[in-house]
Amino acid sequence: MSRLPLPTRKLPAEVRLGRSGVHGYGMFARDFIPQGARIIEYFGERITKAESRRREAGQLALRAAGGEGCFYIFALNQRHDLDGSMAWNSARRINHSCAPSCESLNLRGRIWIAALRDLTAGEELTFDYGFDYADWPKHPCRCGAEGCVGFIVTAGQRWRVRKEIKKDAGRRTKSGGGRSPP
Ligand SMILES: C[S@@+](CC[C@H](N)C(=O)[O-])C[C@H]1O[C@@H](n2cnc3c(N)ncnc32)[C@H](O)[C@@H]1O
Ligand SMILES: [Zn+2]
Repeated sequence: MSRLPLPTRKLPAEVRLGRSGVHGYGMFARDFIPQGARIIEYFGERITKAESRRREAGQLALRAAGGEGCFYIFALNQRHDLDGSMAWNSARRINHSCAPSCESLNLRGRIWIAALRDLTAGEELTFDYGFDYADWPKHPCRCGAEGCVGFIVTAGQRWRVRKEIKKDAGRRTKSGGGRSPP
């Protein structure tokens, strides 16, 4: 079993933070990063799912009031999540993409972001947030990837979102109305 590095708050040398075309800030490769490299750990406060729902509701309320309402909560296991909103958790800046350059790995209860393929200098690090289908209208996606359904939802469920959107468009054509915004 390979040993994991000790937790560190330092930004790894091979990445930098910067403005992203996807959303707000993002994380970018400074240099070549080989496929499979474990790049950065996603730190967070360990909270129950109930607390997670409470915090999510707070963020949604902020958003409804015109604020940013970013989500930094990461699903850890069946009972717990990680709230990574602390400023020193640089990995919180990694955006979602429907065609991600990285993946998240749960290695003995610690979350790592690892390269899915070779990354060249300047490329944005992204991973699939894997959000549940039930939450799809809450999280619009602007990743711009081919095959993006316009909402952040786990890859295996995107077909259901596509179906919903199609159904909705059909209803709209018939009635002249539209879906109310999420
Ligand atoms: C973990 S943060 C990512 C970093 C964020 N860009 C920032 O500046 O702090 C997650 C939030 O970023 C935004 N985000 C991430 N990926 C996105 C995407 N593909 N499309 C639209 N918004 C995205 C959403 O507001 C989401 O709640
Ligand atoms: Zn997308």
